Amino acid sequence: MDEIPEAIRVRESINETKRSSVTLVAGGVLCLVIVGSLAIFLASSSKQPQPTVSSLPAKSKVETDNSNTEAVSSPSPPANAQALKPTSSFDSNSARPDKENLLGHLPYQEVSEANLESITANGSVRLHPKAAAKFREMQAAARAEGVILTPISGFRSVKAQEQLFFGVKEQRVQDAVKRAEVSAPPGYSEHHTGYAIDIGDGKVPAANVEPEFENTAAFRWLQANAARYSFELSFPLNNSQGISYEPWHWRYVGDRQSLETFYKVNNEQ
Ligand code: DAL
Ligand code: ZN
Repeated sequence: MDEIPEAIRVRESINETKRSSVTLVAGGVLCLVIVGSLAIFLASSSKQPQPTVSSLPAKSKVETDNSNTEAVSSPSPPANAQALKPTSSFDSNSARPDKENLLGHLPYQEVSEANLESITANGSVRLHPKAAAKFREMQAAARAEGVILTPISGFRSVKAQEQLFFGVKEQRVQDAVKRAEVSAPPGYSEHHTGYAIDIGDGKVPAANVEPEFENTAAFRWLQANAARYSFELSFPLNNSQGISYEPWHWRYVGDRQSLETFYKVNNEQ
């Protein structure tokens, strides 16, 4: 048996020690990688997705208003409408998002009697003269295509809205938050301005101020053509004011005054 010289034995022993150290270090690094990955995985899987406005479930039909002045049935917003206020300073889907509001509704001035004009034979529905002229034009265009746009409710005074909001609320034994899902408190209705109108389908009166109005020819026609006459839907589905979907409620935004009424943001507030 060959004798291994002492020097070689020492060198091999040193090499062996080095190999062991390298193995130990590599093993340690591998462990750290595994433990780290596990920690990252656990941390990410424990996070819950944040709810967004669009992911909030729409409630189904809850009630119907037979007062024929403003509807109350439609998918309802969450009880706390304020929770849906947008965080951005402007959202094209909302009217003056950062303005003061009451239960999601924005304040409006009541138009003067002198600035109202009837759009029905018996004078039951009145609008601001500019909106009235455009509505008549729009109505005639729809009729030419066999679609009957029926005016249901136009201008409403603050006093009339007071009865509508509080009277019906008491009748239904509702709290203010619930009532405000479908009706504006007095002083906060677009109907005060003379620019807003509830429209029905003359051939489907049962759908008047009901979510079913969206299935009528009148609604389909309005969707395709209302913008030609500067009318737009005030409360589309999931509107950022948190107001119930109202396919029958349209507003005129065809001149500076009406546009400012609904969109102007006063930065001093
Ligand atoms: N229904 C709408 C919001 C109003 O009462 O003006
Ligand atoms: Zn309305």
